Amino acid sequence: MRYPTTNGNLGRMATGAALGFVAGLAIPHARKAVMQGPSLMAGDWVDALKAEHRLVEKTFQMLLATSKDEPMKRQMLLTKIAYALTKHAIEEENVIYPALMENGREDQARHLVEDHGDVKTFIYELRRMPTEDPRWIDTAREFFTDLQEHVREEEEDIFPTFREALPEDENARLTRMMNWEGFKVA
Ligand SMILES: [Fe+2]
Ligand SMILES: [Fe+2]
Repeated sequence: MRYPTTNGNLGRMATGAALGFVAGLAIPHARKAVMQGPSLMAGDWVDALKAEHRLVEKTFQMLLATSKDEPMKRQMLLTKIAYALTKHAIEEENVIYPALMENGREDQARHLVEDHGDVKTFIYELRRMPTEDPRWIDTAREFFTDLQEHVREEEEDIFPTFREALPEDENARLTRMMNWEGFKVA
């Protein structure tokens, strides 16, 4: 089989796609800055992650207060939670957990990653199940209980102990790296 030597239509398509990609990078920057703003303003990496935990908890309380007669509201709040947790997981999994590994805290890092796997499974289950199914809110409640335990471990034990053990410049580096990860996916 012979292949054309010039890239013709394919080449034009590729150029168009590349331009679209560049525009796609430029346009949402303002929105990204707004989305990552509260985390940036919160302070160092521990405070930023705590602020994100509070935001997710608040949205969860709203979701748990819904009834089966509010399918749109349930979907909207679940989408909001899933989006916030995905961004949060990228920040932790791409920077903080590898830093734990790097500093001899592999067991903690692996345990937290495993928890994040459970979070993804809960989100998947809730998306698959009709919101009027009576099990929907029970699953959401179970999800929230597990999530709160994960958050408690991070906030009351693992994160502050780790921050304490690191020199100031290393904490500053983690804060910068974490914010950049968040900005990329915001
Ligand atoms: Fe986490
Ligand atoms: Fe977290």
